[in-house]
Formats: sequence, C-alpha cells, structure tokens
Amino acid sequence: MQTTQERGLWSSKLGFVLAAAGSAVGLGNIWKFPSEVADNGGAAFLVVYILCCFIVGFPVMVAELAIGRKTRRNPVGAFKVLSGGKGPWFLIGGWGILCGIFILSFYLVVAGWTLSFVVAEIAKMFGAEALYTTLSTISPGVKTAIFTVLFMVGTVGIVLGGVAAGIERATKTLMPALIGMLLVMIGFVLTRDGAMTGLTEYLKPDLGDLNTTVIFSAMAQAFFSLSLGMGALITYGSYLDEKESIPEAAALVTTADFSIAFLAGLLIMPAMYVAQGAGIEIINPDTGALINSDTLVFAVLPQLFDAMGGLIGVIFGFAFFVLLSMAALTSTISLLEVPVSFGIDELKLERRKSTLLFGILIGAIAVVVSFNFSLIGHFDLIFNQIGLPLGGFMICIFLAYVWTLRGAFTEMESGYPGVATSTFGKVWSVFVRFICPLLILLVFITTVWTALGL
Ligand code: PHE
Repeated sequence: MQTTQERGLWSSKLGFVLAAAGSAVGLGNIWKFPSEVADNGGAAFLVVYILCCFIVGFPVMVAELAIGRKTRRNPVGAFKVLSGGKGPWFLIGGWGILCGIFILSFYLVVAGWTLSFVVAEIAKMFGAEALYTTLSTISPGVKTAIFTVLFMVGTVGIVLGGVAAGIERATKTLMPALIGMLLVMIGFVLTRDGAMTGLTEYLKPDLGDLNTTVIFSAMAQAFFSLSLGMGALITYGSYLDEKESIPEAAALVTTADFSIAFLAGLLIMPAMYVAQGAGIEIINPDTGALINSDTLVFAVLPQLFDAMGGLIGVIFGFAFFVLLSMAALTSTISLLEVPVSFGIDELKLERRKSTLLFGILIGAIAVVVSFNFSLIGHFDLIFNQIGLPLGGFMICIFLAYVWTLRGAFTEMESGYPGVATSTFGKVWSVFVRFICPLLILLVFITTVWTALGL
C-alpha cells in the first residue's frame, strides 16, 4: 500500500475546506439550483432544500469524510477495507464510481457551454457580433463537442498533477470573487422592472406548492450540490490530515455551498422575470412551466449583461463566465479524481495511466452527449437524482451497521476530542443511523408511489 505521503495530503485545514468547497460549488449551484427552484414552485423548493442540506446532506458528508480519512482509499477500496473484504459492500463504491463517470460526462457538456460563453464575450468585446451569436447559441453538434473536449483536457491536465495545491489556491480566490460578483449582479437586477415578482416567487413560500416531485428534486439537488453520495468526499477525505476536525470542515463546506446556491437564486429568479418582461421566452404562458430548464441561466444572464450596457456589460459577462468555468473546473476535477483514485489503488495503475484511461473514456461519452442533449436528462435522472441519494442511503447504512459508530467516532476523535459524548456526536449518531436513511427511503417510496399514480 502507498503511504499517506505518496497519496498526497491537503496542505492545511483551510486547504482541505477550500478543495472540498471547490468540489461542492460549481454548476450545481449556479446552473442547476436556480432552474430547479423555478421548475419546482419557488420558495417551497427553497425551504425543503435547506432542510435537505443540513438534515440529510451534512450528516452524510461527515460520514463520507470519516470513511475516506480512516481508509485512505478510493470508494471501492474504502468499503472493502472497512467490511474486511467480506460481502458485497464494495459495490456501494462501485455504484458511486459509475455515477461519477456519467455525471461527469454530462457536466462536461454544460461546462463546455460556459467556456463557449467566455469566448463569445471576447468576440463581443471586439465587435464580432456574428461570432458572438454563434458561440452564445446553445445547440448540439461539433461546436459543443469541441468545447466539451477542451474542458476535459483542462481537467485531465490538473488531475495528472495529483491532489494539486493548485486546487486550493484557485478556490481561495475563486470563492470571494464569485460571491462579490453575484452580490453586484443581484444589486443590479433588483433595480429592474419585474424583478420583484421573481424575488417574491423565490422567498415567499406557498406550501400549496409542495408535492412529492418538489421534495424528491430538492433532496437530489442537495446531494448533487454538496458532491455527496458517490464517494467524491470519501476520496477527498482520504487526503485529509488526522488533526483536522471532520464535523467542523463539513459544516463549513455545507454552509459555503448553500450560501452560494442561495445567492445564485437571488440573482436568477428575479432575472428570469426581467428577461420575460423584455420579451425573451422563458416561461410557457399556457403551462406556467419553464420552456427549457437546462438552458435557463444561459438565456437569462446575457440579457442582464446587455442591460448593463456597453463595455461594462461585456466585461461583466466575460468575468462571470470565467468564474463559472473555474467553479465548474474545481468540480470536474473532483469528479474525475474518484475513478482515477480507483484506478490507482485497485487497478494498480500509475496516476498518469489512470487519468488518461478515465479521461478518454469519460471524454468519449461526453462527446456523445454533445450531439444528443436528451442524454443530459436521462443521465441526470439515473445517476444523479436516483443514484446519489441511493448512494447516501447505503453509506449511512454501511457506517451505522457495518463499520459501526464506534469505528467512526474513533476516527473522528483525533481532530475532535470527546466527539462521541459531545452534543454533536449524540445528534449525528441518531441522524446517520435512523433519520437520514429513513428520510431518503421515504422520499423514494412516496415518489414512486405518486409516479405510479397510487
Ligand atoms: N457539487 C458539484 C456542483 O455543484 C457537482 C458534483 C457532484 C461534484 C458530485 C462532485 C460530485 O457543481
């Protein structure tokens, strides 16, 4: 087995929190969250989402980090070690890796869209209007495939270098920049006509909007946005130093991720109604539903940058899409790191070979998705919306009944002395054993129930 030093370690607690936050904060917050809100009854979704993040997501995050740090392995190896190689438990990790592969393959396509918007803004800066229009029109085909592959090449380049200090450094500047930019844009959008309708939709819950689809979507979104359920944080936890407090790190990451999603909602929901008022078709007047939730953000934001006017608008557009691409990059790195660490630990490949193998494989699936956008929805449903909460469910069951709480507490003790008897420890043990798995199960059962029309 490799020593810890060979596998790499984060440089400090802040380093780890930054890397994990880098994984969590990405397209999930800025592309997916606002469209889920708009699709699912606005504020009612937001309320359920907050609960899902802190009641289900946070305890699962603690569980993943503890499993990763204890075993210092990839997800498959981690479950193998902790179950003493007995039984099919390693399949939890296998499922996670499969989910990671397919999530990354559609995530790259959307990340490619952000990249093409970066270039589009540059084209606009130089007055190349026709090029701007081409690059800022989202359509399946060669153009999308090129940007998708470019994004994968960037991701592979960084993962080749190992758990890079680069991830930590990039996130350190990225997060404040992203928050600052969102705040300025929120300030601007709220002065526009129609913004208040969006704000009310977002912040004034109407419990009549609650239904099983809303709850199912909110839970899935929490798993996706917090990078949970597939072992990304088992993998990142495997590079975490023993002295660090896992609960504290998890709390910081959950809060940071939630806050950025919340801000993105505060920007996009009003912007959606402003754009609608300006004649851009966003909501179907007959059904009241979004016309295309996958491209919502990309339809709404350029309109906002135009409204800012002239050079300022172009500079803002450019800066925003650069930041979004970087946020996506720190997430694609963590998604790729999961199968790559599996290749290194289990298939005994060198980092270089493992990275190239999975990079090419996933890149190839992503190219297929670039030509066929309907795959985004299918992959999203199976590997994200069903796959991640299912993974989270199995992680809780495994931790509570195979590894046992004693094992988990012993692992956490080094960075959090007295954890087992602390209030946190007592509450967490109830959540991870009963509340989280039961809630996930309940959401699944009621969703299937409703879907079958029972
Ligand atoms: N959390 C990332 C985002 O919000 C996506 C992701 C999911 C990353 C699962 C890793 C694992 O963009």
